Amino acid sequence: MSIQTKQDLEGMTKASEAVGAALKKMREYARPGMTTKELDEFGYDLLRAHGANPAPKKEYGFPGWTCISVNDEAAHGIPTDKTILKEGDLVNIDVSAELNGYYGDNGGSFILGEDKQRLTPLVEASRQILYLTIGKIRGGVRVSEVGAFIESEARKRGFTTIKNLVGHGIGLKLHDEPSCELANYPDRFNRQRFRKNTVVALETFISTKARYVYPTRDGWTMKAKDGSFVAQHEHTLIVTDGYPVILTANNGI
Ligand code: CO
Ligand code: CO
Repeated sequence: MSIQTKQDLEGMTKASEAVGAALKKMREYARPGMTTKELDEFGYDLLRAHGANPAPKKEYGFPGWTCISVNDEAAHGIPTDKTILKEGDLVNIDVSAELNGYYGDNGGSFILGEDKQRLTPLVEASRQILYLTIGKIRGGVRVSEVGAFIESEARKRGFTTIKNLVGHGIGLKLHDEPSCELANYPDRFNRQRFRKNTVVALETFISTKARYVYPTRDGWTMKAKDGSFVAQHEHTLIVTDGYPVILTANNGI
């Protein structure tokens, strides 16, 4: 969406703060021995305390309140009472919700406790690239140029980017106008430019080796075919003439 009124700005700010606060507290709450279902229920209570409605279920019928992807799960992992978190797991939590008709979206990968799988470089690359990329976004910049930047920063660090997971416009829907897909590679067919006052959810998808992920049998969880790991970090942003406004900055990532 494009922010047109004070009400739009306030609505987007509140929805984004709700998902930012929930993500921050879920990351702090995660412990080895906990199931992803317990973590998800904790997130649900946090969102409801803000009056926010989890978006994945509301918009897509996703079987969970938040997406929790563990280890080789790249995205859209379903929280279950069978997935028990362990020391050293690569965990991604993605929280999106609607509040008063407006949507906020944010996510982040982290390592639970000691880094037994030596994935800190991957997680740090994803987090750093998110912030470096935010610094590149302003009104008039080509979307494909930003995708090229993400890919080149990933390569510099010895990683790849996933081509079929993308950032998106957000606002009155989880995936809203501008209907641009914010790819993590230079999509030469995308001639769009970022426009001032539009709201976008920028997400990195950085991998140890893979370029594509595929749905698994549950119909939701995405994985690479070669067992590659994927790290993601996401913020909801307002595009300006200068540095974007990071609406989900309160997630503390
Ligand atoms: Co998200
Ligand atoms: Co998103």
